[in-house]
Amino acid sequence: MPVPSPKPDHFVWAHAQPGIAWMSQNTNTLPTTPRIDEAIRHAVERGEHKLYPIQKGLPGLAELVRQELGLGPDFEVILGHGGLEALYAMNRALFGPGDEVVCTDPSFLPIHAQIKLGGAKPVELPIYHPPWKTSADRIREALTPRTKGILLIDPINPLGTAYTRAEVRAIAELAKEKGLPLIHDVTYRDFSPDAALATEFYPEGTIVVYSFSKNCGLAGMRIGAIAAPKALYERIKPFTVSTLGINILAQVAAKAALETKKEWWPRVLQQCQRNQALIKQVVDKTPGCFLPVYPSFANLFVIDTSATGASPALIEEHLLFEHKVFVRGGGYLSPRFGERFVRVSFSVPEEDVRRFAEAWPQAIERLRKK
Ligand SMILES: Cc1ncc(COP(=O)(O)O)c(C=O)c1O
Repeated sequence: MPVPSPKPDHFVWAHAQPGIAWMSQNTNTLPTTPRIDEAIRHAVERGEHKLYPIQKGLPGLAELVRQELGLGPDFEVILGHGGLEALYAMNRALFGPGDEVVCTDPSFLPIHAQIKLGGAKPVELPIYHPPWKTSADRIREALTPRTKGILLIDPINPLGTAYTRAEVRAIAELAKEKGLPLIHDVTYRDFSPDAALATEFYPEGTIVVYSFSKNCGLAGMRIGAIAAPKALYERIKPFTVSTLGINILAQVAAKAALETKKEWWPRVLQQCQRNQALIKQVVDKTPGCFLPVYPSFANLFVIDTSATGASPALIEEHLLFEHKVFVRGGGYLSPRFGERFVRVSFSVPEEDVRRFAEAWPQAIERLRKK
């Protein structure tokens, strides 16, 4: 394979190639169900894409999201083109100049970027050390009179750590005590069998972020949601971006996915568990590399490469251009710790993981400085 020079944008290049092992985006390229494709085809045949969709969403879809999350009718669902679009409305509605939102570092930084757009500040608590997550106590210490919200990503992108029920409860109780909105981003929740939801402890102040991208393998469709209790919903709703509705084919796909999820989800989860074990084997054999969090409770984790001296950005580049294995250098996920790790996601076919396993030691040996 010719190595392009100068190196093009990794994402654009990868999209133009056949045979990429997509381990960079926490997307899910495992087989789910043919019912999704059938539902899309039927919708096109009926010409549904020629009309604006119903503003509140395809009948039944919001209810399916509520069921997935165990929420009652007192929660309203706002759909977006990706959870990220629904988050945008929320961040613009809730946070303004001078406000602070307690988050973590590492984190999924596009949410922090949205917080900054309104003039608010994400207060990033460092969590790149054991236990690789934050706590109610640490959040309490970070609160100031300017704090207007808490962002709890759980399980955590990129570390794969999950919060226990007691930890979620303590954080929810703190948010409740202070009257702060708690944003519980559970994008990776399905990969964490014992996940607890903050709505159980603080229903009136928790906003849940839901995505179809990872569990249902629909990242390219761009569909996700937030679920909010009525009073918060009323504040957020006017900031909705897509007031003429969400892509109907994405909605149809999302509905088919949730209606059939019980049939195919256990198989996806099992493969992810096998895949992370395979990755661990190769990481354990590579001097200077370790997995901070194992097992991961998401479809991703980070490999700490700091003791090798190899640059995560160069590891990403080498694996992509030499092996067509796409992982992500830590700079995308952490201003402070990004030089120490690469993020690898594993909701991919096992052949892709085997290619990764072959390529990884070669990449590290080539780039090792220590
Ligand atoms: C923690 C977290 N929240 C939200 C999203 C957005 O997901 P989407 O917009 O694809 O639904 C992502 C995507 O990676 C994520 O990692």
